[in-house]
Amino acid sequence: MTSFLPPSDRIWWKVPVGREEVVWIAIALTWCLIMFLMMPYWHIYGKQNLSNEAYQTTPAKFGAKVEEMIKAHKVRDESGMPVVAPPAGSDVYMLGRLWQWWPILELEKDKSYRLHLSSMDWQHGFSIQPINVNLQIVPGYEMVLTVTPDKAGEYGVICNEYCGIGHHTMLGKIYVK
Ligand code: CUA
Repeated sequence: MTSFLPPSDRIWWKVPVGREEVVWIAIALTWCLIMFLMMPYWHIYGKQNLSNEAYQTTPAKFGAKVEEMIKAHKVRDESGMPVVAPPAGSDVYMLGRLWQWWPILELEKDKSYRLHLSSMDWQHGFSIQPINVNLQIVPGYEMVLTVTPDKAGEYGVICNEYCGIGHHTMLGKIYVK
């Protein structure tokens, strides 16, 4: 029932702060500052940072570049999808659309490529499995990553931004040889 009554001490803000509370405030403030400083630290020294290179484009322009690369460097088909092996050091393209990552890329181990990504329709997620690469891909923008695959194998690309009824089937593939 005490909450219905006025506080006995009307000038409660003059009551000295308890020791425990001071300790908690100090811990919280210190942690707050650590978290704050981690942001610039991680930005500069974190190894997970992807390039933030991006250019404006249009689905039509980007689609044309993808088709051009497929025409020039297609090596075979795999269940209806072209597999493209562009020369080491070149610009490689992959587009996202409902519901696939297109085409399949075949890259050489320890060689660098400029990987261009864009979307033909709306937002998709470009996530390479099982490594930690994860990007939002939106139409109208072309993201460019410099990639140097250092382990041979088959990598899956999954879409991790919900993009409709076929979202869970939106897969792609990258081979590293
Ligand atoms: Cu594309 Cu989910």
